[in-house]
Amino acid sequence: MKNILITGAAGFIGYSLARELLESNEGVEENIQIVGIDNMNDYYSVDLKKSRLENLVKHRNFRFTKGSISDKELVQKIFAENQFDVVVNLAAQAGVRYSITNPDAYIESNLVGFYNILEACRHSYDESDANPSADYKGVHHLVYASSSSVYGTNEKVPYSTGDIVDNPVSLYAATKKSNELMAYAYSNLYRIPSTGLRFFTVYGPMGRPDMAYFKFTNKIVKGETIQIYNYGDMYRDFTYIDDIVKGIITVMKKAPAKNDNGVPYKIYNIGNNKPVSIMYFIETLEKILMEEGISMNQVKKELLPMQQADVYKTFADVDELIRDFNFKPETPLEVGLRNFAQWYKLYYLIR
Ligand SMILES: NC(=O)c1ccc[n+]([C@@H]2O[C@H](COP(=O)([O-])OP(=O)(O)OC[C@H]3O[C@@H](n4cnc5c(N)ncnc54)[C@H](O)[C@@H]3O)[C@@H](O)[C@H]2O)c1
Repeated sequence: MKNILITGAAGFIGYSLARELLESNEGVEENIQIVGIDNMNDYYSVDLKKSRLENLVKHRNFRFTKGSISDKELVQKIFAENQFDVVVNLAAQAGVRYSITNPDAYIESNLVGFYNILEACRHSYDESDANPSADYKGVHHLVYASSSSVYGTNEKVPYSTGDIVDNPVSLYAATKKSNELMAYAYSNLYRIPSTGLRFFTVYGPMGRPDMAYFKFTNKIVKGETIQIYNYGDMYRDFTYIDDIVKGIITVMKKAPAKNDNGVPYKIYNIGNNKPVSIMYFIETLEKILMEEGISMNQVKKELLPMQQADVYKTFADVDELIRDFNFKPETPLEVGLRNFAQWYKLYYLIR
């Protein structure tokens, strides 16, 4: 694991992963080289994406390209110029509700973009190449983001990767499930080892302002009313960013063995395995924002019916992650939220 491509490198998870790899002892000792690509779209604050990038570009072993993975020529060029060992595809149009109003963005980034990444991995080692580097054997592990949203309205909890996930309730979920199928086809046809990671509601410092916890924080700080769907009767398996990063790095290092069909392919859940009710989440956030001196406001709540494309509960079964990697997320909500609140204060209120 030396030359790594991270797509969506200015995004929340891509940035957090790149930073950890660049700054941890392990990454430094192995002299990891990272190429990041991101189209810097304005789905949410571009300034936040720029701030994340500022923390990455100061590292000499990080190089950044601004562009879209849906641009096939660009993707091919980046692969031709680098010999990636590991590719981590995190670029995507995220968000469930936005996929109702902006479906095109999902097709372009999540389907066309991912297809371009698969094709580039496929051609990263071409035996007919006139001038192949002596020891380079192409991308030997593709890790890509899937999502808990593939479980749709699954009633069985916890959600397990063995569950049938053929009932997506949003186009976003459908693109993520499609990614898993596309990856399977490429792992099967071209023996590209691939691992799909179904992330569960990721939160933390430098997180995504479009996500509910971030919007709640903005509104609580301003003394505005927060909207709570399904009258508060919802559960989420909130997963702290450091656990997600640790999980990705752990998985990156070990390409999957061939399954019973001879295909080097695997899917894992990465979730906290401890869903909390939205009402408890909001109480905890309110308390922490007060303790950190960020807000003195009592939360004003508006309880609303369930929204289209939303799900009642998410809950990750992580037994396979434990079995194969002896790893599971472990950061308690109170610790993760406090870290988020402290970052929020520094980033928005003090500087
Ligand atoms: N954050 C979560 O809770 C969560 C949960 C489940 C799955 N995921 C998945 O994890 C991945 C990372 O999520 P995130 O939370 O960091 O989201 P994010 O939106 O912060 O990061 C995605 C990044 O990809 C970039 N991007 C989008 N389309 C692109 C394209 N065509 N070409 C290049 N760059 C493009 C965006 O500008 C953004 O910076 C995504 O695939 C997302 O669907 C996230």
